[in-house]
Amino acid sequence: MRAPTDRDDFQNASGHALVFDSGVGGLTVAQALKSISPAVHVDYSADTGYFPYGDKSDEELRRRLPAVAAALVEAGKPDVFVIACNTASTLALDEVRARLTVPVVGTVPAIKPAIAESDTNTVGLLATPGTIRRPYTQDLIDEFARDATVIKHGSQSLVALAEAVARGESPPLKAFAEAQAPLFSANGGDRMDTVVLACTHFPLVRAQLEASAPRPVRYVDSGDAIARQTARHLLAKRRPTLVDRRATAFVTSSVDELGGLPLTFKRFGFPHLQDVSVGVEATSTATVSSAGARR
Ligand code: DGL
Repeated sequence: MRAPTDRDDFQNASGHALVFDSGVGGLTVAQALKSISPAVHVDYSADTGYFPYGDKSDEELRRRLPAVAAALVEAGKPDVFVIACNTASTLALDEVRARLTVPVVGTVPAIKPAIAESDTNTVGLLATPGTIRRPYTQDLIDEFARDATVIKHGSQSLVALAEAVARGESPPLKAFAEAQAPLFSANGGDRMDTVVLACTHFPLVRAQLEASAPRPVRYVDSGDAIARQTARHLLAKRRPTLVDRRATAFVTSSVDELGGLPLTFKRFGFPHLQDVSVGVEATSTATVSSAGARR
Protein backbone atom coordinates (compact mmCIF):
# COMPACT_ATOMS: atom_id res chain seq x y z
CA MET A 1 0.00 0.00 0.00
CA ARG A 2 1.21 3.51 -0.83
CA ALA A 3 2.40 5.47 2.22
CA PRO A 4 0.12 8.39 3.13
CA THR A 5 2.31 11.30 2.21
CA ASP A 6 0.39 13.75 0.06
CA ARG A 7 -2.23 16.33 0.87
CA ASP A 8 -5.09 14.20 -0.53
CA ASP A 9 -4.29 11.41 1.92
CA PHE A 10 -4.06 13.76 4.89
CA GLN A 11 -7.49 15.19 4.02
CA ASN A 12 -8.94 11.75 4.79
CA ALA A 13 -7.54 11.61 8.31
CA SER A 14 -10.15 11.48 11.08
CA GLY A 15 -10.19 11.07 14.84
CA HIS A 16 -9.03 13.27 17.67
CA ALA A 17 -5.64 14.92 18.29
CA LEU A 18 -4.57 16.76 21.43
CA VAL A 19 -1.74 19.22 20.70
CA PHE A 20 0.41 20.18 23.70
CA ASP A 21 2.93 22.91 24.51
CA SER A 22 4.10 24.84 27.56
CA GLY A 23 2.22 27.89 26.25
CA VAL A 24 1.01 29.26 22.91
CA GLY A 25 3.80 27.82 20.70
CA GLY A 26 1.89 24.70 19.70
CA LEU A 27 -0.95 26.79 18.28
CA THR A 28 0.94 27.03 14.99
CA VAL A 29 1.17 23.23 14.89
CA ALA A 30 -2.55 22.91 15.69
CA GLN A 31 -3.29 25.31 12.83
CA ALA A 32 -1.12 23.31 10.43
CA LEU A 33 -2.90 20.09 11.42
CA LYS A 34 -6.36 21.63 11.00
CA SER A 35 -5.38 22.88 7.58
CA ILE A 36 -4.11 19.54 6.20
CA SER A 37 -6.69 17.35 7.99
CA PRO A 38 -9.89 19.36 8.39
CA ALA A 39 -11.94 16.32 9.49
CA VAL A 40 -9.76 15.73 12.56
CA HIS A 41 -11.04 17.14 15.86
CA VAL A 42 -8.09 19.11 17.25
CA ASP A 43 -7.94 20.17 20.89
CA TYR A 44 -5.13 22.21 22.42
CA SER A 45 -3.38 21.98 25.76
CA ALA A 46 -0.88 24.27 27.47
CA ASP A 47 0.98 23.79 30.74
CA THR A 48 0.15 27.35 31.76
CA GLY A 49 0.71 26.46 35.41
CA TYR A 50 4.36 25.65 34.73
CA PHE A 51 5.27 27.92 31.77
CA PRO A 52 7.99 28.55 30.62
CA TYR A 53 9.87 25.29 30.10
CA GLY A 54 13.01 26.65 28.46
CA ASP A 55 14.73 27.77 31.64
CA LYS A 56 13.65 24.86 33.88
CA SER A 57 16.14 22.19 34.93
CA ASP A 58 16.08 18.82 33.18
CA GLU A 59 15.21 17.17 36.46
CA GLU A 60 12.19 19.41 37.07
CA LEU A 61 10.87 18.86 33.55
CA ARG A 62 11.42 15.10 33.66
CA ARG A 63 9.27 14.96 36.78
CA ARG A 64 6.60 17.26 35.38
CA LEU A 65 6.13 16.07 31.81
CA PRO A 66 4.81 12.49 32.20
CA ALA A 67 2.42 13.67 34.94
CA VAL A 68 1.08 16.61 32.95
CA ALA A 69 0.74 14.52 29.78
CA ALA A 70 -1.19 11.82 31.68
CA ALA A 71 -3.55 14.39 33.25
CA LEU A 72 -4.23 16.08 29.91
CA VAL A 73 -4.84 12.81 28.07
CA GLU A 74 -7.15 11.68 30.87
CA ALA A 75 -9.12 14.93 30.48
CA GLY A 76 -9.12 15.10 26.66
CA LYS A 77 -9.16 11.39 25.70
CA PRO A 78 -7.47 11.90 22.30
CA ASP A 79 -6.46 9.24 19.78
CA VAL A 80 -3.03 10.83 19.55
CA PHE A 81 -1.06 13.20 21.83
CA VAL A 82 1.20 15.70 20.05
CA ILE A 83 4.08 17.27 21.97
CA ALA A 84 4.42 20.50 19.98
CA CYS A 85 7.35 21.65 22.09
CA ASN A 86 11.03 21.16 21.32
CA THR A 87 12.10 21.72 24.93
CA ALA A 88 9.85 18.93 26.21
CA SER A 89 10.33 16.57 23.30
CA THR A 90 14.12 16.67 23.18
CA LEU A 91 14.21 15.78 26.88
CA ALA A 92 11.35 13.49 27.85
CA LEU A 93 9.63 12.01 24.79
CA ASP A 94 10.47 8.46 25.89
CA GLU A 95 9.24 9.06 29.45
CA VAL A 96 5.95 10.51 28.17
CA ARG A 97 5.50 7.60 25.73
CA ALA A 98 6.13 5.13 28.54
CA ARG A 99 3.44 6.77 30.67
CA LEU A 100 0.68 7.06 28.03
CA THR A 101 -1.32 4.38 26.25
CA VAL A 102 -2.09 6.59 23.21
CA PRO A 103 0.54 7.23 20.51
CA VAL A 104 2.71 10.30 21.04
CA VAL A 105 4.07 12.48 18.23
CA GLY A 106 7.15 14.47 19.22
CA THR A 107 8.90 17.52 17.85
CA VAL A 108 12.33 17.31 16.27
CA PRO A 109 14.28 20.54 15.62
CA ALA A 110 14.31 21.00 11.81
CA ILE A 111 18.09 20.65 11.47
CA LYS A 112 17.96 18.12 8.63
CA PRO A 113 15.68 20.20 6.34
CA ALA A 114 17.62 23.36 7.16
CA ILE A 115 20.89 21.75 6.06
CA ALA A 116 19.18 20.56 2.87
CA GLU A 117 18.07 24.13 2.12
CA SER A 118 21.30 25.90 3.01
CA ASP A 119 23.54 26.94 0.11
CA THR A 120 26.42 27.83 2.40
CA ASN A 121 26.24 24.74 4.64
CA THR A 122 25.97 27.12 7.59
CA VAL A 123 22.79 27.22 9.65
CA GLY A 124 21.70 28.89 12.85
CA LEU A 125 19.81 27.06 15.58
CA LEU A 126 17.51 29.33 17.56
CA ALA A 127 15.85 27.57 20.51
CA THR A 128 15.31 27.76 24.24
CA PRO A 129 18.44 27.40 26.41
CA GLY A 130 17.10 23.96 27.40
CA THR A 131 16.89 22.66 23.81
CA ILE A 132 20.30 24.10 22.98
CA ARG A 133 22.06 22.13 25.74
CA ARG A 134 20.29 18.79 25.15
CA PRO A 135 22.37 15.76 24.10
CA TYR A 136 19.40 14.91 21.77
CA THR A 137 20.02 18.17 19.88
CA GLN A 138 23.75 17.47 19.62
CA ASP A 139 22.96 13.96 18.33
CA LEU A 140 20.81 15.50 15.57
CA ILE A 141 23.66 17.83 14.63
CA ASP A 142 26.12 14.93 14.61
CA GLU A 143 23.76 12.88 12.44
CA PHE A 144 22.55 15.45 9.91
CA ALA A 145 25.04 18.32 10.05
CA ARG A 146 28.37 16.64 10.63
CA ASP A 147 30.03 18.51 7.76
CA ALA A 148 28.13 21.74 8.29
CA THR A 149 28.53 24.69 10.61
CA VAL A 150 25.71 24.97 13.14
CA ILE A 151 25.61 28.18 15.18
CA LYS A 152 23.55 27.66 18.32
CA HIS A 153 21.81 30.30 20.36
CA GLY A 154 19.35 29.85 23.23
CA SER A 155 16.96 32.73 23.85
CA GLN A 156 14.34 32.66 26.58
CA SER A 157 13.48 36.31 25.93
CA LEU A 158 12.23 35.40 22.44
CA VAL A 159 9.75 32.97 24.03
CA ALA A 160 8.39 35.81 26.19
CA LEU A 161 8.22 38.09 23.13
CA ALA A 162 6.27 35.46 21.18
CA GLU A 163 3.80 35.00 24.07
CA ALA A 164 3.34 38.78 24.16
CA VAL A 165 2.66 38.93 20.41
CA ALA A 166 0.21 36.03 20.67
CA ARG A 167 -1.67 38.02 23.34
CA GLY A 168 -1.97 40.97 20.98
CA GLU A 169 0.94 43.11 22.19
CA SER A 170 3.48 44.73 19.82
CA PRO A 171 6.98 44.61 21.33
CA PRO A 172 9.51 46.84 19.51
CA LEU A 173 11.46 45.27 16.60
CA LYS A 174 14.67 46.13 18.45
CA ALA A 175 13.84 43.41 20.99
CA PHE A 176 13.66 40.80 18.20
CA ALA A 177 16.89 42.11 16.66
CA GLU A 178 18.66 41.69 20.01
CA ALA A 179 17.23 38.20 20.56
CA GLN A 180 18.70 36.85 17.30
CA ALA A 181 21.83 39.07 17.05
CA PRO A 182 24.22 36.47 18.60
CA LEU A 183 23.57 34.13 15.64
CA PHE A 184 24.75 36.74 13.15
CA SER A 185 27.72 37.97 15.17
CA ALA A 186 29.06 34.49 16.00
CA ASN A 187 32.08 33.04 14.30
CA GLY A 188 30.86 31.99 10.81
CA GLY A 189 27.62 33.96 11.23
CA ASP A 190 28.38 35.97 8.10
CA ARG A 191 27.88 32.79 6.02
CA MET A 192 24.67 31.67 7.77
CA ASP A 193 21.79 31.65 5.26
CA THR A 194 19.21 29.51 7.11
CA VAL A 195 17.95 29.59 10.70
CA VAL A 196 16.13 26.71 12.39
CA LEU A 197 13.27 27.95 14.58
CA ALA A 198 13.67 25.12 17.11
CA CYS A 199 11.06 26.41 19.52
CA THR A 200 7.41 26.27 18.50
CA HIS A 201 6.86 29.77 19.86
CA PHE A 202 9.19 31.30 17.28
CA PRO A 203 7.11 30.81 14.08
CA LEU A 204 4.55 33.07 15.77
CA VAL A 205 7.06 35.92 15.37
CA ARG A 206 8.57 34.94 12.03
CA ALA A 207 7.55 38.30 10.52
CA GLN A 208 9.27 40.21 13.35
CA LEU A 209 12.40 38.06 13.01
CA GLU A 210 12.48 38.67 9.24
CA ALA A 211 11.96 42.40 9.68
CA SER A 212 14.65 42.75 12.35
CA ALA A 213 17.38 40.49 10.87
CA PRO A 214 20.53 42.37 9.87
CA ARG A 215 20.25 40.69 6.44
CA PRO A 216 17.78 38.26 4.85
CA VAL A 217 18.00 34.60 5.90
CA ARG A 218 15.59 31.67 5.54
CA TYR A 219 13.69 30.59 8.69
CA VAL A 220 12.77 26.90 8.84
CA ASP A 221 10.50 25.22 11.41
CA SER A 222 8.97 21.79 11.95
CA GLY A 223 5.27 22.72 12.25
CA ASP A 224 4.16 21.14 8.97
CA ALA A 225 6.25 18.02 9.59
CA ILE A 226 4.63 17.51 13.01
CA ALA A 227 1.17 17.99 11.49
CA ARG A 228 1.91 15.44 8.75
CA GLN A 229 3.25 12.90 11.25
CA THR A 230 0.11 13.33 13.36
CA ALA A 231 -2.11 12.83 10.29
CA ARG A 232 -0.19 9.63 9.46
CA HIS A 233 -0.92 8.23 12.93
CA LEU A 234 -4.61 9.05 12.58
CA LEU A 235 -4.82 7.61 9.07
CA ALA A 236 -3.31 4.38 10.37
CA LYS A 237 -5.85 4.23 13.23
CA ARG A 238 -8.87 4.92 10.99
CA ARG A 239 -10.98 6.06 13.95
CA PRO A 240 -14.09 8.08 13.16
CA THR A 241 -14.22 11.63 14.54
CA LEU A 242 -16.64 11.15 17.43
CA VAL A 243 -15.90 14.21 19.56
CA ASP A 244 -18.93 16.46 19.64
CA ARG A 245 -17.74 19.24 21.96
CA ARG A 246 -16.31 22.52 20.70
CA ALA A 247 -12.56 22.73 20.18
CA THR A 248 -11.11 23.04 23.67
CA ALA A 249 -7.93 24.48 25.15
CA PHE A 250 -6.95 22.55 28.28
CA VAL A 251 -4.83 24.55 30.71
CA THR A 252 -3.06 23.61 33.94
CA SER A 253 -3.65 26.83 35.83
CA SER A 254 -6.98 28.18 36.93
CA VAL A 255 -8.94 29.70 34.04
CA ASP A 256 -9.16 32.89 36.15
CA GLU A 257 -5.37 33.29 36.11
CA LEU A 258 -4.96 33.29 32.33
CA GLY A 259 -5.09 37.04 31.67
CA GLY A 260 -5.52 37.65 27.92
CA LEU A 261 -4.78 34.04 26.92
CA PRO A 262 -8.42 32.92 26.46
CA LEU A 263 -8.83 35.43 23.65
CA THR A 264 -5.63 34.15 22.02
CA PHE A 265 -6.93 30.58 22.19
CA LYS A 266 -10.26 31.72 20.79
CA ARG A 267 -8.54 33.55 17.93
CA PHE A 268 -6.73 30.31 17.03
CA GLY A 269 -10.02 28.36 17.05
CA PHE A 270 -10.21 27.10 20.65
CA PRO A 271 -13.15 28.95 22.21
CA HIS A 272 -13.76 26.50 25.04
CA LEU A 273 -11.46 26.35 28.08
CA GLN A 274 -11.02 23.61 30.62
CA ASP A 275 -8.60 23.63 33.52
CA VAL A 276 -6.92 20.41 34.53
CA SER A 277 -5.18 19.62 37.80
CA VAL A 278 -2.02 17.69 37.13
CA GLY A 279 -2.42 14.23 38.61
CA VAL A 280 -6.06 14.95 39.51
CA GLU A 281 -9.24 15.25 37.46
CA ALA A 282 -10.41 18.33 35.60
CA THR A 283 -11.77 20.95 37.98
CA SER A 284 -13.91 23.38 36.02
CA THR A 285 -14.86 24.50 32.54
CA ALA A 286 -15.57 27.80 30.84
CA THR A 287 -16.35 29.10 27.39
CA VAL A 288 -15.05 32.42 26.07
CA SER A 289 -17.71 34.64 24.56
CA SER A 290 -16.84 36.98 21.72
CA ALA A 291 -16.34 39.73 24.30
CA GLY A 292 -13.81 37.58 26.17
CA ALA A 293 -16.04 36.90 29.19
CA ARG A 294 -16.53 33.36 30.44
CA ARG A 295 -19.82 31.60 30.41
N1 DGL B 1 7.46 26.18 22.80
C1 DGL B 1 8.48 25.52 23.53
C2 DGL B 1 9.50 24.87 22.57
O1 DGL B 1 9.17 24.50 21.47
C3 DGL B 1 9.20 26.17 24.67
C4 DGL B 1 8.82 27.48 25.26
C5 DGL B 1 9.13 27.57 26.76
O2 DGL B 1 8.24 27.15 27.52
O3 DGL B 1 10.23 27.99 27.16
O4 DGL B 1 10.63 24.68 22.92
